[in-house]
Amino acid sequence: MTSSNNKSAPVLTIDGPSGAGKGAVSAGVARRLGWFALDSGAVYRAVAASALDQGVSADDEDSLADLCQDLALSFEAADTGIAVFLDGQPVDDRLRQEEVSVMSSKIALLPAVRAALLDLQRSFRRQPGLVADGRDMGTVVFPDAPIKVFLDASVKERANRRYKQLKEKGKDVNFLRLFRDLEARDRRDRERPVSPTVPAADAVVLDSTTMTLDEVIDKVLSIVRQRV
Ligand code: DC
Repeated sequence: MTSSNNKSAPVLTIDGPSGAGKGAVSAGVARRLGWFALDSGAVYRAVAASALDQGVSADDEDSLADLCQDLALSFEAADTGIAVFLDGQPVDDRLRQEEVSVMSSKIALLPAVRAALLDLQRSFRRQPGLVADGRDMGTVVFPDAPIKVFLDASVKERANRRYKQLKEKGKDVNFLRLFRDLEARDRRDRERPVSPTVPAADAVVLDSTTMTLDEVIDKVLSIVRQRV
């Protein structure tokens, strides 16, 4: 399906910094509305994983852009967040590996890669609607989306949430390190020259620092109902 066939489908964009809960909120809202979901971070992660598998280096912009051409990705709004499938197989564990995270943050800086991924991301726009989660959904990929949310939370709260998630998985984690990593990543994402993580001019900025996941989902649903 191409984007031109689906231009009339409504899109809800949910952008924001790392750890703001975009995945869980997007999946919850998509399930409640019966809309499709797009995890654009997973798109960058899938390119990164395929570059690592094929030995393509992070500065080989042309080969990386080529890798973006035939990515058979699909998404499902699950209980725990947006589940990702490549060629029909679940790939969440692989995409969350540290080497993939590091590679994806490098390739996300390359304009040729970002340009090569535009059509793929837009092809997920379908009736009855799409919830698109990322950094530049409202500013670059779907600038005409009728509903845009920028989901934020304090660095301390985002570090806390990540700390709890990792602890629950039995991982050995250091809070201060998580906090500092998040702060540094925020700065890099906000200040990068291509597609910086900033709210679109017409986005509703939602600070979830003191809200529960259900409260954020309800709030986003009420914003959708006002606008569609
Ligand atoms: O949200 P995430 O951690 O899964 O994203 C993986 C990487 O891709 C991260 O470095 C940010 C980047 N990214 C991006 O540049 N633009 C997007 N729309 C989504 C993610």
